[in-house]
Amino acid sequence: MNKPLLHEKLRNDALRLSGALEHMSKIMLAPEERKTLRLFGAGEVAELLRVGDGYLRKAHFDGRIPEVKQVNGNKRLYSAEEIIALRKRLAGTAKDPSHFLPGRGAGDKLQIWSTVNFKGGSAKTTTTVTLGMRLALRGYRVLLVDADPQASLTTFFGIQPELELRDGGTLYDAIRYNDGDATRVPITDVLKKTYFPNVDLVPGGIMLSEFETETPTALSRGEQPVFFQRIRDSIREVEDDYDIVLIDCPPQLGYLTMSAVCASTSLLMTIIPERVDLASGSQFLTMASDLIEVLHSNGGIGAYDHFVYLLTRFDTSISAQQDFAEWVREVLGDSVISTPFLKSSAVSDAGVSQNTIFEQDLSGSKNRKTYARALESVIGYSNDIEMLIQSAWGRGEGDET
Ligand SMILES: Nc1ncnc2c1ncn2[C@@H]1O[C@H](COP(=O)(O)OP(=O)(O)OP(=O)(O)O)[C@@H](O)[C@H]1O
Ligand SMILES: [Mg+2]
Repeated sequence: MNKPLLHEKLRNDALRLSGALEHMSKIMLAPEERKTLRLFGAGEVAELLRVGDGYLRKAHFDGRIPEVKQVNGNKRLYSAEEIIALRKRLAGTAKDPSHFLPGRGAGDKLQIWSTVNFKGGSAKTTTTVTLGMRLALRGYRVLLVDADPQASLTTFFGIQPELELRDGGTLYDAIRYNDGDATRVPITDVLKKTYFPNVDLVPGGIMLSEFETETPTALSRGEQPVFFQRIRDSIREVEDDYDIVLIDCPPQLGYLTMSAVCASTSLLMTIIPERVDLASGSQFLTMASDLIEVLHSNGGIGAYDHFVYLLTRFDTSISAQQDFAEWVREVLGDSVISTPFLKSSAVSDAGVSQNTIFEQDLSGSKNRKTYARALESVIGYSNDIEMLIQSAWGRGEGDET
């Protein structure tokens, strides 16, 4: 019997898969209708607004803020839109309005953070999307940029890139090189609002891998701007609309990652406290340092606000991980974010259905302890990073009102 030819088998399987996926998407609702955000309890809102217990109840009682939905007697529930409206309302009368609206003030530079590491699966995407949503709930205007051809970040927003963005609509269109009539488009052509208030998205998709293959020829024909300016130039077009941009990079040090790095004001490197991860992390740093040196002498990169490491998927029940985490802190010192992103089934279970921990409320379920612990970790590292962002704007963190 003849053995099947590999390329034929792959093509057939690809056709079967894409056919089945298309069928699945047809029986689902439109993406915008598919995902909705849950409501938030008064305790969560108080934590987000950094106000004490009873502050909101009193403000409602005094008529300073509008009433919201109440369930089970007088348990108040707030939508994310209502939380944002509250921020604006409370800032109007606050001694320090920036307590409620902590975003950029006049003269503050847009913060652009890239999440990097060429170790696959080190939680770059999970960290980026979770941090983005947390910062949005904290009152910042956030743009997420998916610079990964795998487009995992994009799928968190109920979009199926391989079906919905097959004919364009990704970051690629905004950074591509000229090819006959095809030229780059403004980033606003591909930027989307999401179901999550204060979070906009520039989707990724498989087309982005073209950028990797096209860059060497574009360089050889001298096309301007060069690769390391392309993401930066695109983001500049919407600079005034956001406080923070988070770019999710692919797990490699290619042209996309270098372009994201050159666009950034700060970098976040995710590392799992395991030997193999640390070894590849170290390799990444050496290669990045060599490349950035070359780009630096070509005007590619300026000064950085922060370069920090975040311990991710940290399993505190494994003593070897604890030892490695401690060791990393000793070696890298203050550059390691204080709160680690703990490994938790609350994060991976949510991830399976393309949700973040903020979209699930398990506080009343049998898994509530696991959920609370994971949430505490996410809020912890997000707060640490928020402080770094504030420090880049020359501000300390506001205290509780
Ligand atoms: N804190 C966590 N606890 C448990 N599982 C996690 C945690 N963070 C991430 N994961 C899981 O680890 C896997 C890899 O995460 P993620 O996709 O964020 O990594 P990545 O670095 O973006 O991967 P890639 O290199 O492919 O882009 C996912 O299945 C995710 O759900
Ligand atoms: Mg990823």
